Amino acid sequence: MSGSGEKPVLIVDGKRLDGRLPGDIRPSRIEANVLKNAAGSAYIEWGNNKIMAAVYGPSEALPKHTSNPERAVIKCRYQMAPFSSLEEHGRSGPNRRSIEISKVIKEVFENAIITENFPGSEINIYVEVLQGDGGTRAAGVTAAAVAVAASGIPMTDLPYGVSIGKIGDQIVIDLNKIEDNYSDADVPIVISPRTGRILLLQMDGDMTKDEINRGIRMAADAGKMISKMQSDALKKQYMEISEKYKNEAPSYTPQAQK
Ligand code: CDP
Repeated sequence: MSGSGEKPVLIVDGKRLDGRLPGDIRPSRIEANVLKNAAGSAYIEWGNNKIMAAVYGPSEALPKHTSNPERAVIKCRYQMAPFSSLEEHGRSGPNRRSIEISKVIKEVFENAIITENFPGSEINIYVEVLQGDGGTRAAGVTAAAVAVAASGIPMTDLPYGVSIGKIGDQIVIDLNKIEDNYSDADVPIVISPRTGRILLLQMDGDMTKDEINRGIRMAADAGKMISKMQSDALKKQYMEISEKYKNEAPSYTPQAQK
């Protein structure tokens, strides 16, 4: 939606420029617990996006006035690395966009983490975009959810993000950067798959209610794959841990009877 100059043709014979159909998401992979010092972490590659998510806490909420005696407070920082895109990200520190994205990601996790379990504490979620190519808040939430789960902090669900949008009169999902720039609408959403609740919905451009509903149905279909990718990353991590401890565990095999 921010593109200037002549609008490129984004869909030819029903296919998008990278060969995808309207309901396809970009090839993606997630790896859980990649950082030694975080309570939980996850690295995601989603198309050309490369994003690291890290979770610290729960720990005492500081400064004190930020704490809530009834629940944990969630603090979130989304940031694009200076080298993450052709645009300038180096000098200015947090900007309007990164402050906004940090806020909406924080709200996602306030509605997913069981914060009542940790009164007076804070949970810090960091989303660092190493390479950005459209849809970084959705991919960032998807990775951050795996990082929170890997940290052992309980959630009611494992949310995932994906964007829906409109190119001409075609509804598409998971817009990459060029599609995002020249689309008629780009609507990042985050879904809680167990309940179907929508934890984030932002809108750039115009879509009718019917078009949004169609987009959400397409996103929920693709979401089955995203959810599986998230749980596979977590399962793989637990298999590795149990394998490690299986080999290290002391043997309690009783001595053979004489
Ligand atoms: O990444 P997302 O789609 O959630 O956010 P956006 O604000 O719609 O931006 C789309 C894409 O433009 C990002 O993924 C980045 O690749 C790029 N971008 C950037 O590099 N620097 C900015 N200040 C804003 C956007």
